[in-house]
Amino acid sequence: MKNILHIITSPRGKESISIKLGNALVNEVLQTHPGSTVTELNLAEHPLPHLDEATVNALRTPVDQHTELQKEVIKASDAAIAQLFDADILVIGVPLYNFGVPSNLKSWLDHVLRAGKTFSYTAEGPKGLAAGKKVYLAFSSGGVYSEGPATGLDFATPYLTAVLGFIGIQDVSVIRAEGLAIPGLKENAFDKALASIEV
Ligand SMILES: Cc1cc2nc3c(=O)[nH]c(=O)nc-3n(C[C@H](O)[C@H](O)[C@H](O)COP(=O)(O)O)c2cc1C
Repeated sequence: MKNILHIITSPRGKESISIKLGNALVNEVLQTHPGSTVTELNLAEHPLPHLDEATVNALRTPVDQHTELQKEVIKASDAAIAQLFDADILVIGVPLYNFGVPSNLKSWLDHVLRAGKTFSYTAEGPKGLAAGKKVYLAFSSGGVYSEGPATGLDFATPYLTAVLGFIGIQDVSVIRAEGLAIPGLKENAFDKALASIEV
């Protein structure tokens, strides 16, 4: 039995391909690990705030020295990190937005990557503290990035693989529904993505 955290970032609800792909992945994981719990985190509906002055100062100040304001603003980060640590498996919906990740996902990462909590600096260099989790990226894009002339312009999946690796999560799989804006490809893009799922 596993705890699955499904992170939704598309605001498109039922029309969203990354949400549909994420749901398909969650169902596959449930087949492999029956009885697992599924928690949905919808960042499109409930985004974490952009880091402001008080939050950045709170992140840089030891907890026992926090002001009342810093105690308040750090709660979002504490809650996001607790939810991450509770999860064994993460399914993250990643619609490609302007060659990168949706800003709500970047905001979540800004609250989750935290020195002393999800990584630490050691004499040997930075050490990830969230090891042992599995991540599936349910990726969707209008263009094609796995081959052809736009290869290298998907900055979302290498970025996510790097930041998740930085906090110790090395096991990241990417499932792509791509070519969703290209006639001749878009018709089968989702089915191809479904067929490529390996859990
Ligand atoms: C603001 C915005 C930016 C986008 N930028 C790109 C892009 O850079 N490259 C691309 O191939 N598709 C881009 N798209 C298309 C989406 O990646 C595609 O429609 C995807 O299916 C959206 O995910 P969703 O169906 O889960 O909402 C963009 C769409 C939006 C709304």
